Amino acid sequence: MEDKQKILEGIWEELRLGVEKSKHPYHIFSISTVNDNKPDSRCVVLRNIDKKSKIISFHTDIRSKKIKHINSNDNVCALFYDQQKKIQLRLYGEIYLVSSKSEIEERWKNSRNMSKLCYLNKYPPGEPILNSREYLCNESELGDIERGIKNFSIINVKIETIDWLNLNHKGHERMIINFYDNSKVNYEWVAP
Ligand SMILES: Cc1cc2nc3c(=O)[nH]c(=O)nc-3n(C[C@H](O)[C@H](O)[C@H](O)COP(=O)(O)O)c2cc1C
Repeated sequence: MEDKQKILEGIWEELRLGVEKSKHPYHIFSISTVNDNKPDSRCVVLRNIDKKSKIISFHTDIRSKKIKHINSNDNVCALFYDQQKKIQLRLYGEIYLVSSKSEIEERWKNSRNMSKLCYLNKYPPGEPILNSREYLCNESELGDIERGIKNFSIINVKIETIDWLNLNHKGHERMIINFYDNSKVNYEWVAP
């Protein structure tokens, strides 16, 4: 296997670990959307990767404003940084909502109660409220946690390009990896 291919394999492996391990530096990443030509970024949790289809995914509240951004512009950039390995990853691609009901139900079923609770909030994320905790449900409303599924969504990013940067005291390295149809991959070293 060539060096470049090995690097790509390593990227997928680290992303896989990022899903599995909550302490992995890739577990939380930043996803940037475009809102009326202006960038907007936020942290999200990496929930799944599909190496074959080149997809990464996270969960979100269907009422959140990032959904509106996605609906009007599906171009996104996902940013990861591993401080120990000194590797920055920028993943560019197309973002979309998963529509498969069975997939949503399956993912919901496998979510922890702690995560499910976020989807019971009374108001959409970003909605003005009178005091900081007004969005919370009272205890009686918390009873049926499964109601939260109505606000739960899975967001996928189909990766088109990876910009990999490896900081190294002997000389930084940077490579652009482009995915084309029919599993064709193009690797290109660029100046860091
Ligand atoms: C460490 C961390 C992890 C987060 N994970 C998620 C997540 O997985 N999904 C999500 O929708 N928001 C997550 N958030 C909250 C988002 O950063 C953001 O505040 C929220 O989704 C509203 O974003 P929006 O108004 O741009 O839609 C997380 C925030 C932090 C600090």
